[in-house]
Amino acid sequence: MMNFQVAIDGPAGSGKSSVSKIVSKALGFKHIDTGAMYRAVTLEALKRKIDLNDEHAYSFLNELDLRLEHEKIYLNGQDVSKKIRSLEVTRNVSLVSSHKFVREKMIELQKNIALKGCVLMDGRDIGYNVLPNANIKIFLTASSEKRALRRYMELEEKENVNIKDIQKEIELRDYMDSNRKINPLKKASDAILLDTTDLSIDEVCDCIIKLIKDGMENAKRCNE
Ligand code: CDP
Repeated sequence: MMNFQVAIDGPAGSGKSSVSKIVSKALGFKHIDTGAMYRAVTLEALKRKIDLNDEHAYSFLNELDLRLEHEKIYLNGQDVSKKIRSLEVTRNVSLVSSHKFVREKMIELQKNIALKGCVLMDGRDIGYNVLPNANIKIFLTASSEKRALRRYMELEEKENVNIKDIQKEIELRDYMDSNRKINPLKKASDAILLDTTDLSIDEVCDCIIKLIKDGMENAKRCNE
């Protein structure tokens, strides 16, 4: 079985999640949404009402059953794909994912899932930390105005929501994710930078699918 790894990193609203879903489906790759994993840990931590600042309080991760299947995420057998997108989880996930213990646990899981087959993993530290030998690395960016607009358009309930507030929330999360001590949001030095501000989702997907197909052809040739 061919083992081919694609790493896609970038900040909130850069298009990572949507693009990763479409591209992995089109190419038959296993998609690993690492943000969803940190969100699920946050959901569980909030449910347990632990002190989110206390790294020792996350020992529950030693027994947690976390699984990603067909674009859904399961916590101890329960589908929590919708719940992990709540405002409360979004507001706390950067704090939760800044802990060394939490990251070690998640990265161990992520590396294990990526051992076999063709995988596309998206997150913040994939290209330079989780999969440093990935065959293709991409870093997506976009202006924070455009990213806020995309998030606003995604919302089902638009009443009482203000784009400026979404932009502030995104900028605060960018700041926390980029400035934390462990595995901050960062472009791998060998990642391809793709600014999606003025690109449609189809244009971004076409570009990435081409990069992956070319990369797979090259890898096959090298193995012959
Ligand atoms: O979809 P969105 O861009 O809002 O974020 P996400 O990909 O669901 O990730 C949520 C949060 O998880 C990020 O803001 C980071 O704090 C954290 N995260 C991380 O620390 N490392 C990763 N590899 C992925 C996400």
